[in-house]
Amino acid sequence: MKCNPLLLQLRCSACACVLEAPGEFLYNCVRCGPAGTLEMLYDYPKLAAAWARLTQGDLKGMARYASWLPIRSAASLPPLLVGDTPLSRVDRLAAATGLDHLWIKEDQRNPTGSFKDRASAAVIAAARDRNIQLITAASTGNAASSLAGLGASVGLRTVIFVPASAPEAKIIQLLIYGAEVLLVDGTYDDAFELSLEATRQFGWFNRNTGYNPVTLEGKKTVSLEIFEQLPQVDAVFVSVGDGCIISGIGKGFQDLYRAGLLAKVPRLYGVQAVGSSVLSKAHERGYLEAEPKACTYADSICVGEPRVAHQALQLVKGSSGGFITVSDDQIRTAQLQLARTSGIFAEPAGAAAVAGLVPALQAGLIAPHEKVVGVVTGHGLKDIRGALSAVQQKACHISSQPSRLADELRKAGVV
Ligand SMILES: Cc1ncc(COP(=O)(O)O)c(C=O)c1O
Ligand SMILES: [Zn+2]
Repeated sequence: MKCNPLLLQLRCSACACVLEAPGEFLYNCVRCGPAGTLEMLYDYPKLAAAWARLTQGDLKGMARYASWLPIRSAASLPPLLVGDTPLSRVDRLAAATGLDHLWIKEDQRNPTGSFKDRASAAVIAAARDRNIQLITAASTGNAASSLAGLGASVGLRTVIFVPASAPEAKIIQLLIYGAEVLLVDGTYDDAFELSLEATRQFGWFNRNTGYNPVTLEGKKTVSLEIFEQLPQVDAVFVSVGDGCIISGIGKGFQDLYRAGLLAKVPRLYGVQAVGSSVLSKAHERGYLEAEPKACTYADSICVGEPRVAHQALQLVKGSSGGFITVSDDQIRTAQLQLARTSGIFAEPAGAAAVAGLVPALQAGLIAPHEKVVGVVTGHGLKDIRGALSAVQQKACHISSQPSRLADELRKAGVV
């Protein structure tokens, strides 16, 4: 684990035991198993000292934060630019939702079109530090396509387990990048279990969300960027399935706080679909209960058995934030509203973060004057069917004859 000498300890999110970071790679707590996701703790005064250097250097993207990650150096990261995504002020969307100050962190702009590139880049760096040649992952689609694309950039073999129902574009990404693809006749949760079994049987390095603690560290880089782009944020909205992205975001702000760079951690709001809301219910009830039949058109957040549950719940609570559930129709409305007011095309799970804004305002969780960031986690072109289901109007067919143009435009209602 100790590729970075500033990494000191690992803390289990389930039983809270702390151990010195061992030499060998550890996926999760030896007592709790996969439920005990591990939080990495660093030498924070030294991280603070490294911050000044990293913000002044000429490295780009995640490479700038190498000293804050469990990797040997920036050179271990894949060469594609991951991170450095824009934090775009979206005044027209703000007006439509009733907020004064709203920004979108555009993580759909990463090389393979999703936030997951941050985790894949960090896991690939950790693999390269250990001379590992093959990585496996289970995924709803984005984590896998991101692992496949970034893996291709450094010549790694990738073996992917995805539900056969994953959107076509995500499966095509896998194939075009040259991954070895196993379409599972089952759910994401089934694919996850199969990939763990393959890891046990064949000793493959596993990138699964949350299961591999490096994923969380990669994901935290989004908060380091948000902090640099907008030092004072009141609330951050992000969609939630397994809970790894929101945990990574929380961890990033926590690390900034522990290093003495950030005075107050922003409130974190996790947005879930009504049909896939295990963490939201757990936040409300105080206990966790898996729901095997999760169902939402936002495929990336369709998760019945969240893998980073404890950490996500702790970090959201610790930030004084909360969870919001939205219907699929609310997500469709947000997908359209985001695209039509800001020009940002998000896949359904990316738009879910935006869908949470109005209900949060109505419930008094956020106030109109607060500074709010929504994280768009995936590009709309990844799920064309999903996007089509949000669009009501049809495109008009017209003839190719210029003499009929005026008539055709009148018929179509354009003039
Ligand atoms: C686009 C997108 N948004 C949100 C999520 C949810 O992240 P998590 O499962 O870590 O909560 C995912 C995960 O696959 C995703 O791909
Ligand atoms: Zn434990």
